[in-house]
Amino acid sequence: MGRLCSPPADMREILAALGLADVSSGVFAGGWVDAPGGGEIVSVQPSTGLPIARVLAAGDADYDAAVDAAVRAFAGWRVVPAPRRGELVREIADALRRHKAALGKLVSLETGKILAEGEGEVQEMIDVADFAVGLSRQLYGNAMHSERRDHRMFEQWHPLGPVGVLTAFNFPVAVWAWNALLAAVCGDTVVWKPSEEAPLSAVAVTRLANEVCRRAGHPPLFSLAVGGAELGARMASDARLPLVSATGSCRMGRAVGEAVARRMGRSLLELGGNNAVIVLDDADLDLAVRAVLFGAVGTAGQRCTSTRRLLVQRGVAAELTGRLVAAYGKVVVGDPLARETLMGPLIHARAVDAMMAALDAARRQGGEVLCGGTRVDRPGFFVTPAIVGAHAGMEIVKEETFAPILYVLQVESLAEAIALQNDVRQGLSSAVFTRDLRAAEAFLAATGSDCGIANVNLGTSGAEIGGAFGGEKDTGGGRESGSDAWKAYMRRQTVTINHGTELPLAQGVRFGE
Ligand code: UN1
Repeated sequence: MGRLCSPPADMREILAALGLADVSSGVFAGGWVDAPGGGEIVSVQPSTGLPIARVLAAGDADYDAAVDAAVRAFAGWRVVPAPRRGELVREIADALRRHKAALGKLVSLETGKILAEGEGEVQEMIDVADFAVGLSRQLYGNAMHSERRDHRMFEQWHPLGPVGVLTAFNFPVAVWAWNALLAAVCGDTVVWKPSEEAPLSAVAVTRLANEVCRRAGHPPLFSLAVGGAELGARMASDARLPLVSATGSCRMGRAVGEAVARRMGRSLLELGGNNAVIVLDDADLDLAVRAVLFGAVGTAGQRCTSTRRLLVQRGVAAELTGRLVAAYGKVVVGDPLARETLMGPLIHARAVDAMMAALDAARRQGGEVLCGGTRVDRPGFFVTPAIVGAHAGMEIVKEETFAPILYVLQVESLAEAIALQNDVRQGLSSAVFTRDLRAAEAFLAATGSDCGIANVNLGTSGAEIGGAFGGEKDTGGGRESGSDAWKAYMRRQTVTINHGTELPLAQGVRFGE
């Protein structure tokens, strides 16, 4: 773990609980690399603006060692039967359960998300681990009927190789788990480049997961290379990584996707969203208010699933907006570790500046800030969440600003709302509030929401791990987490066996007979 500078009083205790007090390296390559050469990355606590640790990043040789370790471990891991691989992941789930409180607190300290969300993030890791354990006995292939007599045809799924995983600051450990724990049951190993804003959480999780490997008698499967954007670019063009899974901005994802495609690798992209909630005149407004508040203010608007636009039908626009402004007035902004806090700080000063710039643009484009949108005068990167009265012509509404800004637009009809909702480059999450079955089904129809996630009478964020997670258009098209997302981490092989004495050709072709 990085050297600590001005740590909060209980920080040492948390680190000790995670067994981290003695580590100063951000590189794990079969073991911790003592003095990696990629320079120092400073982890800053967003609620104070002060550094909490310095972690040593991967230089070129360290990165190579991390990938080599994953390549070596893969050779042995891929022949371990999948249900045995599941047993290892079950033990990781147990270790996460034991460390939930400490890890949740570390995530909260390092990212500024409130404690309930820090703990929720660890629960998300546990959930996906449990899911992966079950999956380890369900990596099914289909059997097909061959058109040829005495032939059997089926498909089987094999491990793919070491998987590169790039994660963002906002879910610094859960998104690793979505990828790494599925990859592990699929027989893959992992090379992780975490966000530069959250290296401590990554070190903690890497330590915990590899410790489980060691105790179970397996080689360490989970390499770590802390580093910046150049390291991510290197992973994207590294042919030793058949799959690179990246979570972050659309700009980053486009660069990764292009580089991976150039070498005919596979990418799994989970990028930005510009998610809307549609509220129709007949909606249950109590539900809608709570869902929009959680979606727009939760994690200080820094989820890819955060609610950024409210498309409200004219009949309830005034009431809903008024109730939201009142609810925003009661949001406690402050120390993310205090139980009464609903919104912690943004991740860094640049995020605060980006929020203010977006609000300026909104004002210039004819929007009206109805509440919030100010910097809070205290150390750290605190703002008040903003609601902006907006209209469809405003360009800024189509952009994803990673901050708690909610644009409210009035619509006449569901058709208009769906058209507006889909008229952005991103396509991650969406929601409608209505009591009308026909309206709900119209929203879910092929002509309805164009997003990867579509919800009825619940908000855009806070997805369960059981469904495939991801979205269309600039969101990148990848699907992670539940359902059959595991298929991205394996290679499919179509097999045909001739158990007869003839050699019939497909399509009835006769050749040289
Ligand atoms: C992200 O913001 O990258 O659905 C992931 C949610 C969380 C995951 C968000 N379960 O909001």
